[in-house]
Amino acid sequence: MDCKNTRHCDAAGEQLKADILRLKKEKNAVVLAHYYVHGDVQDIADYVGDSLALAQKAAEACADARIVVMCGVNFMGETVKVLCPDKKVLVPDDTAGCSLADSCPADGFADFIAAHPGYTVLSYVNTSVEVKALTDVLVTSGNARKVVESFPKDAKLIFGPDRNLGSYINAVTGRDMVLWDGACHVHERFSAEGIARLKAEHPDAPVLVHPECPRPVVLMADEVGSTAVLLKYALQSDAREFIVATEPGILHQMRKGAPDKTFIPAPGTDSSCGCNDCAYMKLNTLAKLRDCLVNEAPEVHVDPALAAKAIRPINRMLELSK
Ligand code: 13P
Ligand code: SF4
Repeated sequence: MDCKNTRHCDAAGEQLKADILRLKKEKNAVVLAHYYVHGDVQDIADYVGDSLALAQKAAEACADARIVVMCGVNFMGETVKVLCPDKKVLVPDDTAGCSLADSCPADGFADFIAAHPGYTVLSYVNTSVEVKALTDVLVTSGNARKVVESFPKDAKLIFGPDRNLGSYINAVTGRDMVLWDGACHVHERFSAEGIARLKAEHPDAPVLVHPECPRPVVLMADEVGSTAVLLKYALQSDAREFIVATEPGILHQMRKGAPDKTFIPAPGTDSSCGCNDCAYMKLNTLAKLRDCLVNEAPEVHVDPALAAKAIRPINRMLELSK
C-alpha cells in the first residue's frame, strides 16, 4: 500500500538507509548497482555503473569483501558469482529476470552454433550462465565494437542474443555477423515516431540512444552507446536538453550530474505505464536490499562446472577491454 504520510515515509526511508549502511559495515558487504535501478538504491551503492564497469568492479574491487550484493538482474548476479566464486553473492530479488536473456535459451543457442561450424561465438553479457558457457568472447554494449574489431575483417562470427545491438555493430564495423534473433522488451518499445514527436517539440535536444533499440531509432541518434557512454555525453555536451532513449533509471545520474539541464525520457509505445521502466530492474528496492543483508539471502549459486566454462569468455572480454 502507498504511504500517504510523507513525514512517516521520509523517516522510514532514512531508517532503511541507516540500516543498510550499518549492515554493509558489520557484514563487510559491497553493494553494486546498475544505472537502471531506483535512484535511492543507486545512491546507497558503493559502485554504480553500466554492465561493463560492474563486471570490472566485481573482478577488482570486491577483493576484500565477504559479501557482494548485486542490485540489477539475475544474469548480473551470476556474472559476479562466476568472477568471485569464493564470495557470498546476494541479490535483493531473485525474480529479477531479463527478457533479452530469456530470448536466448541455451539449447536453442547450442543448435544455432552447431548449424554454423567454424564460427566464433560472441555473446552479449545479457545472457544466462549456460549461454555464456557456450560462448568464445562476451561483450557489453560498452565494448562490443572494440571486441568485434579485434577479429580479422573476414572472421566468421556469430553474435547473440540481441539482434539490435548486433545489427548496430555490423553497421559500424562493416561486418556481417550472423545474428541470433533476440531483443530486450524495454528497448524494443522505443519508436522512431515517438522520438520524432519529441524532436519536433525540442529541436535542439540531442537524441541519446542505447544500441539495444531498433534500427530506425538508432538512425535518429546523435549519440549511440552504453548507459555509461550516454551519461558521459549528457554531462559533457553544451546542449541544455536531451531526449533519452534507454531505460529511464539512467536519468537519475544525468540529473544529479547536471541539475541545470533537462532530460526528457523517450516514450515507450505499448508500455502499460507510458514510461519505459524495466520492471525487473525496478524490483530492487531499499527494503529488499536491507532484508537481503539481514538474511544473507537470496544467494546466487552457479554450478562450478558451468562457472569454469563461463569464466573464459568473461575474462577474454575483460582482457580485450583494457
Ligand atoms: P549497459 O549497462 O551495458 O548499457 O546495458 C544496458 C542493459 O540493458 C543492462 O541490462
Ligand atoms: Fe534485460 Fe532489457 Fe531489463 Fe536490461 S532493460 S535488464 S536488457 S529486460
